[in-house]
Amino acid sequence: MNVSCRHHVLITGGSSGIGAALALHYARPGIRITLWGRNEQRLQDVAEKVREQGAIVSTLSLDICDAEKALEAFTKTDRENPVDVLILSAGMSDIRPEGQKTESPEIALKMSMVNFATPVTLATKAASVMAERGSGRIGIMGSVASFHDLPLATVYSGSKAGLGRFSTALRAAMEPYNVKVTLIAPGFIDTPMSRKLEGDQPFLVPVDVAARKIARAINRGQATLVFPWVFELTRLLEMVLPRALAHRILRKLDIMQHPPGG
Ligand SMILES: NC(=O)c1ccc[n+]([C@@H]2O[C@H](COP(=O)([O-])OP(=O)(O)OC[C@H]3O[C@@H](n4cnc5c(N)ncnc54)[C@H](OP(=O)(O)O)[C@@H]3O)[C@@H](O)[C@H]2O)c1
Repeated sequence: MNVSCRHHVLITGGSSGIGAALALHYARPGIRITLWGRNEQRLQDVAEKVREQGAIVSTLSLDICDAEKALEAFTKTDRENPVDVLILSAGMSDIRPEGQKTESPEIALKMSMVNFATPVTLATKAASVMAERGSGRIGIMGSVASFHDLPLATVYSGSKAGLGRFSTALRAAMEPYNVKVTLIAPGFIDTPMSRKLEGDQPFLVPVDVAARKIARAINRGQATLVFPWVFELTRLLEMVLPRALAHRILRKLDIMQHPPGG
């Protein structure tokens, strides 16, 4: 599918980072872009730039911890302007606070909603209406973190792993209906999320480069996009290493974040 005039692209997490860069990538005359996020000011700032590039833009400030509200909002938007491309970029990250044995259960619950339950709800709804129409694209933002048992980020890696399996299963289900589901699994991308982390971020990718790669994979209907490619190797390595040894290595990962949570 060539995303062209009259196409409607809805991006969750469109107020920041990868989602905002994708909005600017798609923005051009004739295209409609709907941006979701929480922070009204950030949404308006991105919307303004998207408008300057000639696209029609609307925004919705919504906390996607509330999956039912998000589902209602998607259904309404899609009824008014059918969504051709849905990109589920909203997400949150967190790592175990220094001195603690686990991450916070409260953040675990929130992250499960934001990173898994709501994206799965929205993708399922989008797939059903797109299948009826006989076309559509769904891009789902996983992470290379899903390939590893990360002791410092059990909920993040677990939520993204669940999302990854859901994406490939939904792709298989949608194959007969010309609805293509693309799982995106990036390494470190230079955004406010990665800037919260202290410590090494190997092979950091600029956000505009990432947006170009992601949009190309979604437009082509590619099954998965893992980048940078070196993370394909770390995935393979973890698969072949004895689990106990892999866990010993992963426990040594030293990374901090500022401020905690969020
Ligand atoms: N950056 C990386 O290195 C990296 C690597 C792998 C995967 N990813 C994934 O890529 C996606 C985008 O991340 P990013 O780097 O662009 O992060 P970001 O700059 O922090 O953006 C996160 C986006 O998600 C939205 N969001 C977070 N919690 C929300 C909630 N409860 N309700 C509604 N919207 C919410 C934020 O909205 P507000 O701005 O309004 O808060 C923001 O638009 C995430 O799914 C992340 O896990 C990122």
